[in-house]
Amino acid sequence: MAKILVTGGTGYIGSHACVELIQAGHEVIVLDNLYNSKEVVLDRIAEITGVKPKFYRADIREIEEIRQVFQENKIDAVIHFAGLKAVGESVAQPLMYYETNISGSINLYEIMKEYGCKTIVFSSSATVYGAPKSVPIREDFEVHTTNPYGSTKLMNEMILEDLTVSDPSWSVMLLRYFNPIGAHESGLIGEVPNGIPNNLVPYIARVANGTLEYLRVWGNDYDTIDGTGVRDYIHVVDLAKGHIAAVDYALTHKGTEKVNLGTGKGYSVLQVLHAYEKACGKELPYKIMDRRPGDIAECYADTQKAKELLGWSAVYNIDDMCRTSWNFTLKNPDGIK
Ligand code: NAD
Ligand code: UFG
Repeated sequence: MAKILVTGGTGYIGSHACVELIQAGHEVIVLDNLYNSKEVVLDRIAEITGVKPKFYRADIREIEEIRQVFQENKIDAVIHFAGLKAVGESVAQPLMYYETNISGSINLYEIMKEYGCKTIVFSSSATVYGAPKSVPIREDFEVHTTNPYGSTKLMNEMILEDLTVSDPSWSVMLLRYFNPIGAHESGLIGEVPNGIPNNLVPYIARVANGTLEYLRVWGNDYDTIDGTGVRDYIHVVDLAKGHIAAVDYALTHKGTEKVNLGTGKGYSVLQVLHAYEKACGKELPYKIMDRRPGDIAECYADTQKAKELLGWSAVYNIDDMCRTSWNFTLKNPDGIK
């Protein structure tokens, strides 16, 4: 059992990670400024696990606020989810993204160094692969970013790698997530997008509950199974479990590892839409539109390294992902309140 600081722990992926960490017997401390989440998520975590994590409402851009957490707790490892994640917004407001995702993260690494806590699991993204030359994507593929959000992920990877070079006693896990969707089986925690969603499944969920009229399918002329974009959707609970495996690995090994967290299977936009129709029991309207700028045709993970290094692989299928997303949407029509 270890004492784990979860930054961004009231957020979508962070809250599911807290549940899995607690259920695996770890002690969890959450740091979040509640910019994109609600404090009541902690009660939901308590309802699921019987344990309410200790909470610091703190901002990673304020180094003193992070220092207080380390002063008051002997942290063994950090899982760092806190940050901003909207690609379009990052193009419009790059400085805001660099300030939070880069300066904020450096503050965290500085304090970790100061307190001798050198074990970290970082939320990276498949976005670091840009437009891959082939699929499935392996961790040793070239990296290339096309927007400030993606650049902040790649820069964090580089910063943490350099840190390990400077001091080999660091343990760094760079987890490259593919497309997380779905929600906890309880329907108590899940994704609550701000405003009109950009991502596919949160958008479909709102078509299914009648808040939005129809899905706009961004292009059907890609070289894919049905012409629509293909992605590697991964259930958020599987993803959360990947973090438990990663933190356990990091606590017993030194150095940096980059690991894909995906299922290794690709589904098209229309395949996801049809799986969601099955989950909610009704037909969902859609219209084919032009391609969305910046989108790639196909993206899915080679999952071999996660299996070999961490002994982890995803178990939920696309129907489970849609079913749990719909369950959460029905139970929380106005988000988590
Ligand atoms: P989220 O927005 O639900 O969670 C992020 C949390 O960080 C929120 O609770 C927010 O309040 C908090 N936060 C933001 N700025 C902060 C600050 N300055 N100080 C302290 N807390 C702050 O997002 P998520 O989907 O759970 O993503 C978690 C991480 O995973 C992010 O780093 C994201 O970039 C990365 N990621 C997400 C996806 C995805 O599709 N959801 C894919 C790849 C990587
Ligand atoms: N799509 C639609 N209509 C929509 C939304 C999406 O047709 O309303 C399509 C997209 O064109 C794409 C697929 O659904 O083919 C998935 O799109 P998402 O926006 O859900 O996800 P992306 O793969 O584009 O991007 C996600 C995250 C990024 C991250 C990237 C790589 O949003 O932050 O995965 O990990 F960088």
